Amino acid sequence: MKVFIDGSYFSKEDAKISVFDHGLLYGDGIFEGIRIYNGKAFLLKEHIDRLFDCAKFTMLNIPYSKTEMIDLVKESIIQNDKNKISDSGYIRLLITRGSGDLGLDPAKCSKVSVIIITDKISLYPEEYYSKGISIITSSIRRNSADSCDPRAKSLNYLNNILAKMEAKNAGCLEALLLNHNGYVAECTADNIFIIKNNILMTPDVSCGALEGITRNTVIDIAVSEKIKVEQKNLTLFDIYTADECFITGSGAEIMPVTSVDKRIIKNGTPGPITLNLLDLFREFINNYNYEK
Ligand SMILES: Cc1ncc(COP(=O)(O)O)c(C=O)c1O
Repeated sequence: MKVFIDGSYFSKEDAKISVFDHGLLYGDGIFEGIRIYNGKAFLLKEHIDRLFDCAKFTMLNIPYSKTEMIDLVKESIIQNDKNKISDSGYIRLLITRGSGDLGLDPAKCSKVSVIIITDKISLYPEEYYSKGISIITSSIRRNSADSCDPRAKSLNYLNNILAKMEAKNAGCLEALLLNHNGYVAECTADNIFIIKNNILMTPDVSCGALEGITRNTVIDIAVSEKIKVEQKNLTLFDIYTADECFITGSGAEIMPVTSVDKRIIKNGTPGPITLNLLDLFREFINNYNYEK
């Protein structure tokens, strides 16, 4: 494995940053998780656009243009063994405030750091896609937009980690987080969708969700299939009584959810619209123009 750090490549063992990096000391940084299919980065432009939006929000000056960042990601795949990562590859792109002193002041940090890790992703077993998974609702609330807006994909994932621990304690793989008004926001690393009376619904990002790239792709696919899509406030009542439910993310793709807080969704099997969207999403991956 070769890890890019600020212009040079390092082996896994030598890929190190300072203990004074504010990304470590304060979670002062942002990141992207990009899927690799066929040895190439999927929806790379969209990920780089989101990275730059998050950089603007957090006032991190990325020392490369968007085009340069795209080229750096492509180069880091070439530097790694394409065959090993082929269809289960994953890029973790990090921008940290860099090394400073022990105070909070970002102005004391010498320079922003850019890190690109190319690795294998651990995937959900294929049978989960045909059976669906169970999730629970976490007691942890998603940050509201007037604290650190969850639309920023920052290095502060403690809320999500606490919620993930609750999920695992309950024997589940994912947990749902509500916002402070009790509306559904998203899961720890995935967006959530339901289908009711043939309408596809997902929380608006203002409810406290990351604007997932997979989420947006699924919405586009649904619209092109003439499925009505609504982005709106949803409560647990909506989730429990949905006809179908699924979560989306770069790792999970489209994962059917068949039980939420021990309420079985419809008849407890992945629904037809979910499975159709999963087929169409996988078709989209195969036909995607990786050169753009
Ligand atoms: C909190 C959160 N929500 C949703 C997602 C899904 O986003 P994407 O589809 O861009 O991977 C992620 C991805 O890591 C995430 O961390």
